[in-house]
Amino acid sequence: MNFDLTEEQLSVRAAARDFAQAELLPGVIERDEAQNFPAEQIKKMGKLGFMGMMVDPKYNGGGMDTVSYVLAMEEISKIDASASVAMSVNNSLVCWGLEKYGSEQQKEKYLTKLATGEIIGAFCLSEPEAGSDATSQKTTAEDKGDYYLINGTKNWITNGSSASVYIVIAQTDLSKGHKGINALIVEKGMEGFVVGKKENKLGIRGSDTHSLMFTDVKVPKENRIGEDGFGFKFAMSTLSGGRIGIAAQALGIASGAYELALKYSQERKTFGKEISKHQAIQFKLADMATQIDAARLLCLQAAYQKDAGVDFSKSSAMAKLFASQVAMDVTVEAVQVHGGYGFVKEYHVERLMRDAKITQIYEGTSEIQKIVISRELLKS
Ligand code: CAA
Repeated sequence: MNFDLTEEQLSVRAAARDFAQAELLPGVIERDEAQNFPAEQIKKMGKLGFMGMMVDPKYNGGGMDTVSYVLAMEEISKIDASASVAMSVNNSLVCWGLEKYGSEQQKEKYLTKLATGEIIGAFCLSEPEAGSDATSQKTTAEDKGDYYLINGTKNWITNGSSASVYIVIAQTDLSKGHKGINALIVEKGMEGFVVGKKENKLGIRGSDTHSLMFTDVKVPKENRIGEDGFGFKFAMSTLSGGRIGIAAQALGIASGAYELALKYSQERKTFGKEISKHQAIQFKLADMATQIDAARLLCLQAAYQKDAGVDFSKSSAMAKLFASQVAMDVTVEAVQVHGGYGFVKEYHVERLMRDAKITQIYEGTSEIQKIVISRELLKS
């Protein structure tokens, strides 16, 4: 693994950092409070190439590597994790899956628009009774010859109301277990498809998380991704990549909180000196910085392996497991360094602390990451 970033990677990171400061920071507290999706900002991110970073330029993508994606995700997440989850789902779970497994027709019709952020996508796997246990899909996609008929409910769907394209995982043949599951592209506006209630969340409150209802939704066969029965493997493979994005999001939340704590500790005085001169605070800063560096290395390792074309499911699960724990630990400490100020909204760290928690839950809980990691360890 090469630890030196290329000129291109450095400039992607700088562009993401500048964008986050200029366009995401203003209003981030208000969007969190009001639960407003950063729609305009996402459009601008699309124009800058952040919504389809790894997509081949022939489908209007940025043609960048996964390392660049991790760097950009970290910078965006330092400031606004609600914007970064929309970015992560669109890049990793929608664009990447479509590019790798979709038909040429699907790529032309959907990927070319998703890659520019002209439209955004959603990935619909979770259900009221199928979160971690992803094979227990109750949503059905009945094979009707030249179309599928979808019935069921999806829960906790990121980009739930702002997406135009939804990749829906549904059961076609229960008797075949995971081999009876399909991944289908559903468009907003298809008859019988209704966007349901918006969740009122602890964190990432600017992200729109909804339940979705499907009643006799007719989806043409050409909207199936891959062969009949490929849906579960599609979901697993896509989630492996998605976990790199969420690991980088967790890393960004942690490093954003750390940077704020570092700055505050050099300004705030107690007992006649800056609090950074107290060893109690120095130890906290040292622990935070060490944890963040370790998380970054795991994120970059997973990205590097994905770019190198080797199996990255273990490394992406490790990165997500570790970085999400670091996000929790570091944000709690960042609030502590800020004392009473850390508890109020203007100082940002309380929001980052609330945002951190979801990184241990979505795209597989920490316990799921341990299952994935241990299975890979035991394979050898
Ligand atoms: N790539 C390709 N195929 C894979 C794979 C991968 N990474 N992982 C597993 N598979 C394949 C297996 O090889 C197996 O195929 P065969 O039977 O042909 O060998 C098949 O998939 C089934 O695999 P398992 O037997 O391992 O499946 P399992 O039922 O035991 O489940 C699990 C494993 C790891 C627990 C899985 O269910 C899982 O990852 N669950 C968590 C799901 C999840 O992350 N949900 C989050 C929702 S999405 C979200 O949060 C998005 C958002 O909005 C932000």
